[in-house]
Amino acid sequence: MSANFVTLPDHAAASRYAADWLAGRISDCPTLTATLAAGDTPLLAYQLLIEKARTNHIPLDRMQFIGLDEWIGLGPADAGSCIETLTREFYGPAGIPADNIDYFDGRAADPALEVQRVCDRIAESGGIDLIVVGVGVNGHIGFNEPGDCLTGAFSLVTLSETTLEVGRKYFGGGAAPETGATMTLETIRQAKNILIFATGERKRDAVQTILRAESGCPAAAFCNLPQAVYLFDSASNPQ
Ligand code: F6R
Repeated sequence: MSANFVTLPDHAAASRYAADWLAGRISDCPTLTATLAAGDTPLLAYQLLIEKARTNHIPLDRMQFIGLDEWIGLGPADAGSCIETLTREFYGPAGIPADNIDYFDGRAADPALEVQRVCDRIAESGGIDLIVVGVGVNGHIGFNEPGDCLTGAFSLVTLSETTLEVGRKYFGGGAAPETGATMTLETIRQAKNILIFATGERKRDAVQTILRAESGCPAAAFCNLPQAVYLFDSASNPQ
């Protein structure tokens, strides 16, 4: 079986598709457990989802959330952290109760213990129902970097040079933390519905590695999963 591949004319059209895809699944099961990428790519889709949910009376506040990844050293109060971005762009505007949101706290005193806590939380949840991931310029997913082979459900990771360089955009051009923590590919692959989202010219090389199903490319790890949808725009996948 193969994943579904969708290419739409531009970022706005792809974001509308993503919002519809999310709304459909949440309508079917408003209490599902979801994991959402931060980063720039899905932010418009999250905004459109909130608008659609208001118009169509789809409850978002009954969902449970488990964070995808985080920069070590950064927590909810730190601008540019994954949890700060998602709270500002989605959890807050969508009215998600704080009790429904669990995430790796990058400021935890003992990161290894925090990893174990998140692994336990993922196990308790029974798995992720719905996940949105963005594709890095180098083909990373969450913070699973090319060539990584992370074990367990959630893991600490040393970030690649490319991720550190690209990551400056989240910190006003300043340096990004050199280590991170991420849900592993193994956990993401087990999710019941997976949306892999890449738009813009800068993702062209990564999208090519996906389309060639290159084994070392984390973003290509879902090509044989029928529950996965790859969503591109014509800038990332000129046809
Ligand atoms: C962020 C994350 C990253 C980004 C990826 C794409 O939580 O998991 O993997 O999704 O780096 O980032 P953007 O969308 O900013 O190009």
